[in-house]
Amino acid sequence: MFSAQACIQHIIPKTRPDFSREGSAFAPVNIALIKYWGKRDTELNLPVTDSLSIGLRTLGTRTRIRWTEGEDNISLNGELLPSDNAFVKRTRQYLHYFRPNPSLGFIIDTHNDVPTGAGLASSASGYAALVLALNDLCQWQLNKTQLSILARIGSGSASRSLWNGLVHWHAGTQADGMDSYATPITHQLPSLRVGLLTLSRKTKPISSRLGMQQTVHGLSLYPAWKPMVEQHLSRLQTAIAAQDIAQIGAISEHNALSMHATMLSASPALCYFLPETIATLQTLWQARSEGLACWATLDAGPNVKLLFDAHEEAAVTACFPKVSIVQPFG
Ligand code: DP6
Repeated sequence: MFSAQACIQHIIPKTRPDFSREGSAFAPVNIALIKYWGKRDTELNLPVTDSLSIGLRTLGTRTRIRWTEGEDNISLNGELLPSDNAFVKRTRQYLHYFRPNPSLGFIIDTHNDVPTGAGLASSASGYAALVLALNDLCQWQLNKTQLSILARIGSGSASRSLWNGLVHWHAGTQADGMDSYATPITHQLPSLRVGLLTLSRKTKPISSRLGMQQTVHGLSLYPAWKPMVEQHLSRLQTAIAAQDIAQIGAISEHNALSMHATMLSASPALCYFLPETIATLQTLWQARSEGLACWATLDAGPNVKLLFDAHEEAAVTACFPKVSIVQPFG
């Protein structure tokens, strides 16, 4: 077992704090089309399988960071958070890996475009923006592979939030995780649209982190997940190369629902859906049986993301008037 501290120290150069500097960065939210669900190492966030995502380009996290003598001072969306707040506790634990000495702290001001902890991938863009801002503050000049590894140790899905467009996170096989990082995929899907249906803004009752553990160790259908992902990933790569949005949507929806099936089959069972989530899926499936070319994907939360081609935009809006549409490729 390698510790997160040792892996991070292996990557970052010796840091000399410059109190006159400020680091800042933006990282996009990413939505997984092939999901990351389950870890082979919980300290380093090493996944059981590869995953593949799409960045949302305009939606993400903006973070500014400075050094301070003493305690960390963390603001989220303009509000200074108390030190017993769960978000602060998790962020501070991660920041410990980067302090040249324990008495130094950070002043962090971070803004999320999407609700925090509601299954809209805010931890992915959050840790990616934090790592980029640290790289700027400390002038490490790390490359994207190194940054992806650092972000992954903060939150697995953050390894994919360093790029726009399609991104592939390679699970890797090494125990130290140095081969577990993301790379961008050159293919573009200019006509792909992602529709966000925010059904709840509440923080989910069980984090993805705990949910994954409950599924992996919960006597569930989880053993079927790895071979299924391998098959879905290979079919998705073919569909991406062919720019086949219908196939991309269908494979992504099947992958997301398969992930939720592993959770439902755990003991105790885990269900992130709300009644509104089921109602939305039923509306979608009914509309699809009547010809609407639109598919859904869902993460560890009740909110639904829709995948469709630009020419379906009017029909999707008619079916889901509250949808907020993103053009991932501009
Ligand atoms: C369902 O990256 O939030 O969104 O590594 O424990 O921080 P940790 O988990 P996290 O899990 C994301 C799970 C997911 C699927 C995905 O984004 O691939």
